[in-house]
Amino acid sequence: MAFLCHRSTNLKAVTFLLVAMSLSALRLWLLQELGSPLEKKGEDPTDVPAVPVQPLALHPRTPCVANASANSVANFEQLPARIQNFLLYRHCRQFPILWDAPSKCAGRRAVFLLLAVKSSPENYERRELIRRTWGQERSYRGRHVRCLFLLGNPRPEQAALAPQLAELVDLEARKHGDVLQWAFADTFLNLTLKHVHLLNWLATRCPHARFLLSCDDDVFVHTTNVLSFLEAQSPDHHLFTGQLMHGSVPIRDSWSKYFVPPQLFPGKAYPVYCSGGGFLLSSYTAQALRAAAHQIPLFPIDDAYMGMCLQQARLEPSGHEGIRPFGVQLPGAQQPSFDPCIYRELLIVHRFAPYEMLLMWKALHSPTLSCSQGHRIS
Ligand SMILES: *[C@@H]1O[C@H](CO)[C@@H](O)[C@H](O)[C@H]1NC(C)=O
Ligand SMILES: *[C@@H]1O[C@H](CO)[C@@H](O)[C@H](O)[C@H]1NC(C)=O
Repeated sequence: MAFLCHRSTNLKAVTFLLVAMSLSALRLWLLQELGSPLEKKGEDPTDVPAVPVQPLALHPRTPCVANASANSVANFEQLPARIQNFLLYRHCRQFPILWDAPSKCAGRRAVFLLLAVKSSPENYERRELIRRTWGQERSYRGRHVRCLFLLGNPRPEQAALAPQLAELVDLEARKHGDVLQWAFADTFLNLTLKHVHLLNWLATRCPHARFLLSCDDDVFVHTTNVLSFLEAQSPDHHLFTGQLMHGSVPIRDSWSKYFVPPQLFPGKAYPVYCSGGGFLLSSYTAQALRAAAHQIPLFPIDDAYMGMCLQQARLEPSGHEGIRPFGVQLPGAQQPSFDPCIYRELLIVHRFAPYEMLLMWKALHSPTLSCSQGHRIS
């Protein structure tokens, strides 16, 4: 009897506990359900509205159709398919904007530096690390830095993944408001379209940004060094600086990613330009380039195209020692170096894996970083 009695007290206690637990769980759930719509409103101050606005001027209604006489180009049939494709759609210069960031440059204080990062829908990790490191949207000694990622649509060979990639871009655009996406395929030969669309976007959405940094999503940017350099520059004067490409010749091997047949560029060398890995320009030069781009047919090598536009605008690019889109190699070293002391002095360096960006950013901002004088870069 004593045994049974004991058991039933235990049972009662357990039942009571279970009921109490489910009641409090229900209460929690109810609170959350009721609370969340109210909390969502002011959720996060960085949650700027990034509604997909499609202003008429940027949104031509009829899709651009292929140029039926593109095949009149000499030996069209012998050209690689991607070059044929480029020629067919070369005249298409205005694509609808799918994700806009209309409030990117809103606010009382003008944007000092706009970081415009060429990315692709699938490069989510790179964007995320950039947001956490050198692309942070903040003020450095009162200078406002803003960041944008320039995307096209998934490439045709990614068709199976397209719905997922669209959802991903959607999530990011809504959460961060830092995505500009246009309705052209995100291919290498379409990169020039990103520059052209960005220059037009700047003129309407962000005309007062003083400087622009254009780069790939696998570079490391030393943001404070870039700002120190720009502080001594005027946004109203010409500035276009980076790794200078002088006398760069068109690649005539059709297997190369950079292949340009004589039908597209008969000349011996491109006008001088800066490597597209990363370059800096002033507001003045961005406007001049925008005007010049209207005069120059699209060209499949995006940085060389910038050189053509500069030439058209009668402006010259300049070289900057601290912009190393080809990486940094110590004299005699086999591998590109990862020593933070080398990067202390640089502005833009190619190529960093996402995890390297994080480590380098932490190392450079570590109060214990100590460097001797002897760090020489080649
Ligand atoms: C179509 O291609 C031909 C041959 O390259 C070219 O002459 C013509 O200007 C192109 N048309 C347009 C609208 O770009
Ligand atoms: C550029 O994008 C347009 C629109 O998506 C597409 O029709 C064209 O094939 C692309 N061009 C190249 C060379 O990839």
